[in-house]
This record gives sequence, structure tokens and C-alpha cells, in this order.
Amino acid sequence: MKSRLPGFYELPHSERLGVASRFAGLSESEASPLGQFGVLSPELTDVFIENAVGTFSLPLGVATNFLINEKDILIPMAVEETSVLAAASHGAKLARAAGGFTCTATDPVMTGQIQLFVDEYTAEDRAILEANREKLIAYANRGHDSLIARGGGARDIEWRWIPEIKSIIVHLHIDTRDAMGANIVNTMCEKLASMLAGLLCCQTGLRILTNLNERRLAKAECLILKEEFDSREYRGVDVVERIVKAWEFAWFDVYRATTNNKGIMNGIDPVLIATGNDWRAIEAGAHAWTCRDGTYRPMAKWSQDGNGNLAGSLELPMAVGTVGGVTKLHPTAKAALRLMGLPDARQLAGICCAVGLAQNLSALRALASEGIQRGHMGLHKKNLELMATDRPLTGATRI
Ligand code: MEV
Repeated sequence: MKSRLPGFYELPHSERLGVASRFAGLSESEASPLGQFGVLSPELTDVFIENAVGTFSLPLGVATNFLINEKDILIPMAVEETSVLAAASHGAKLARAAGGFTCTATDPVMTGQIQLFVDEYTAEDRAILEANREKLIAYANRGHDSLIARGGGARDIEWRWIPEIKSIIVHLHIDTRDAMGANIVNTMCEKLASMLAGLLCCQTGLRILTNLNERRLAKAECLILKEEFDSREYRGVDVVERIVKAWEFAWFDVYRATTNNKGIMNGIDPVLIATGNDWRAIEAGAHAWTCRDGTYRPMAKWSQDGNGNLAGSLELPMAVGTVGGVTKLHPTAKAALRLMGLPDARQLAGICCAVGLAQNLSALRALASEGIQRGHMGLHKKNLELMATDRPLTGATRI
């Protein structure tokens, strides 16, 4: 059988699954888990993607102990990895004693790129672009009245010349308010490209948003009192020092930085998934941002303050939306946002950074003291037992 399947997308779900199962030689019971629908109806899966046969379930948990901008909040997280929820909640508990997390965010300004092919970048090109800056912004905003009424819209234009590809790359900066904004950005870029091509008498290349949204940043900060780390085996002040050393290790070593940052995304991705946000976009932007000085660095910063306490911060591009798209259509995403008290996009961006920071804190605390395996493996034990016995899952697997 060939994977070339004309008309596959037009078949009803069950028939699509039948075709795929026959292709792979799956029995009905083997194929059954692929064809399950939870809160997403078959019709809704077709709204989201093409060729849908079913849905994929992930555990959805609620992280506790978070105090963000002086407000208690429960955080929904969708993730398959043991210990992520426990670690996030533990990190949040450590931060509570000194007031939890302080989160801030810039205006939700996304950036789109328009590539213009020119043989060389002349003074005349520059003068034309400068002279038409306001006109270009106004043209980009045309037809986006509701965005503008909500306080958003195209704000600014910049450009740079990349001689190697003989291209002027125009950056259009757009405040997309509570939308993630990919569609708005791409629509505006496509529209503006034709005006730019007319002005510079050139061909256009790509017209697409960048996921490195340097103007859409969110930041979380926290202070952990050294006493919070006191235990029978360790003095809190020593743990603080060891956490800072662990951070330095990541600062100077890309192998460690990668694992460190994976741990941060362990916190952020599950919130993005639970709220219907594009976690691939955030991942791409976060990793690019973290090597903006040319070296891949740890995303968060940890240092010891004058009183021996631990100060942490995490700043990342955070293009998340709380309206439109999946957020609007997915019943679980809608409920997850309600569980958090319906944050706006900037608040959700801050929450994501707080969870990433809590996750990192928890991992570093364990790594810098007793090691990750004691806590992690305690939680992971049930998984191993199940894998060893191949027992069917029951409610008894609660951790
Ligand atoms: C495991 O998923 C994440 C950690 O490896 C992160 C870290 O090492 O910082 C524990």
C-alpha cells in the first residue's frame, strides 16, 4: 500500500482511521486509541487540523502555591512528565515566603518580516522608506478597525540590509493586544509587501512573522529566603550558594544550559498547551532570545543578594494569546483560562515566566543538594512499576 492517499482528507473520521489502520496492519483494538475523541468533537478536530482521526490525551494537572503579583492563582498544566507539577508547586512554595513572583510584560508587540530583493541598498532606497514611514504604517492598519479600536495596530517600521542575500528586510511592529497575532501580522505583511515593492520597484520575497519577538517580552522575578532551603542535611545559605554555582555552570557551558532551559520549558510548555497557545512558537523564540549575545545561555538568572538570599529572574519573548484561535474554540483551553481568572495576554505571559522560573528553581535546588533522582524517582516509581508489570492503568496511579 502507498502513503499517497488522494481524497483521504475528505473521508469521515472512522474511514480515515480504517485506511490508516489497514496501511499499518493494525487490528481494531490496536487502532482504537488513535480514534478517541474527548472534549473535542470530531467536527472540531476538523476545524483545527486536516486528516484528523482522533485526539491525543495528556494529563492535565493544577500547580499550587503560586502567588503572582500578590494574587493567589492555580495554574493548569498539560504534560506527560512525572514530577513537573510537583516541582512547579514546590518552586512556587519556596517563593511564597518573600511575596511570590512579580511579573511584568511589555505591550504585546509582534514583529513581521518583509523581504525586498534589491541589487544594492542605496541612499535613495533609505530616503524613500524614511519618507513613507507613516504612510506605510497607516496602510498596514487599513481594514483593521476593530484591532485599532481595542488599542492595537501597526506601530513602527524598521529595516536592515543583508548584503549576502541582496535583501532589505523590513520589520513591521504590530500591537496585537490579547491575540497571539500570527494571522494579523501575516495579513499585514502580505498587504504591505505590495506597497513596498511599488515604492522601491523591486520584487518581494517572504512575508511572515518572526517568532523572535523582541518587543513582546515578559518577565518574572522572585526572592527566596535562605531559610526556605534549610533542611536536616543542608544549611539554606549553602544551598543558595550551590544554586548560584549551578547557574554559573549553565552560563559557561552550553550542554548544561540546554538541560537547564529544557527544565524551564518543562514549566512553560504545559501552561501553553493547557491554554491552547502555540508552544512551538514560544520554544523557538525563547531559545533564539537566549543566545542573542552569540552564545546559548541559561534563560533565567540566579544570584545571591546582600542578605544571603536567592534572587531569580526570567525574561523571555512571550507571544501568547487569550482571545481567538484555539483559545476560543478548545473547551479545555477556555476552562483553563477561566481557572486562572481570565488573564489578559500580558498577564498570561507573566504567569508563563513565573512557572518557568519556579520549575527552574525546583530543579536547581534538587540538583544542587540531594540530587534530582531522590524526589524525581520517588514520583517516577509508579511509572516503572506499571511498565514492569504491564498492568492496566487504574486510579491507583495517582502520585
Ligand atoms: C528534567 O526534565 C529537567 C531537568 O533536567 C532540568 C535541569 O537539569 O535543570 C531536571
